[in-house]
Amino acid sequence: MEAASITIVEVGYRMQRIVSALGLALVAAAVVAVALMASGLSVPATAAADDQAAIKLFQDKKCNRCHEVKVAGIVKAKAPKQEEEGEEGDEVVLKEEKKVDPPDLSGVGVKRDADYLTNWLQKRVANDDGRKHKKRFTGKPEELKTLVDWLLTLKSPVEEKK
Ligand code: HEC
Repeated sequence: MEAASITIVEVGYRMQRIVSALGLALVAAAVVAVALMASGLSVPATAAADDQAAIKLFQDKKCNRCHEVKVAGIVKAKAPKQEEEGEEGDEVVLKEEKKVDPPDLSGVGVKRDADYLTNWLQKRVANDDGRKHKKRFTGKPEELKTLVDWLLTLKSPVEEKK
């Protein structure tokens, strides 16, 4: 009898700790959210969950260092010069960048399909101008799929910079 009541007390105590840990996690999440918003990295509140995962990837994989996606509220991130140096392969990339402007991807879903984008992001295909992408995608296959699925939904007209 005594042992059983101790167990119940113990369980109660553990649950209390779990609850307070959850509370802390919530507070931490709120702090992170506010910090993200303050640094301009927040995703638009209207985006669906899948979109938000893709937009987060787009930022985590630094696609937004080169690309805007105006329709999704993504503007180009201005990375500090020092941070850009020292990163693998960037020297070449930054030189080439001057020649070809990375397009706003707001309308990429109109002219591209899943196969093309999947291959393009892995530098397996060249575009009509004979150029391959600047960056090879380095994430997991499911991350690539999340990104590609989202890119295909982007069908807003974009002004051609010519
Ligand atoms: C170093 C700069 C840079 C980074 C980083 C970069 N891109 Fe690009 N991207 C470009 C440039 C430049 C082009 C245009 C290529 C051309 O026309 O030759 C391009 C083209 C594209 C296109 C093709 C658009 C079309 O209609 O053909 C897609 C899609 C794309 N990028 C997606 C991404 C994604 C997703 C990421 C992140 C995983 C990314 N890019 C990261 C520079 C970059």
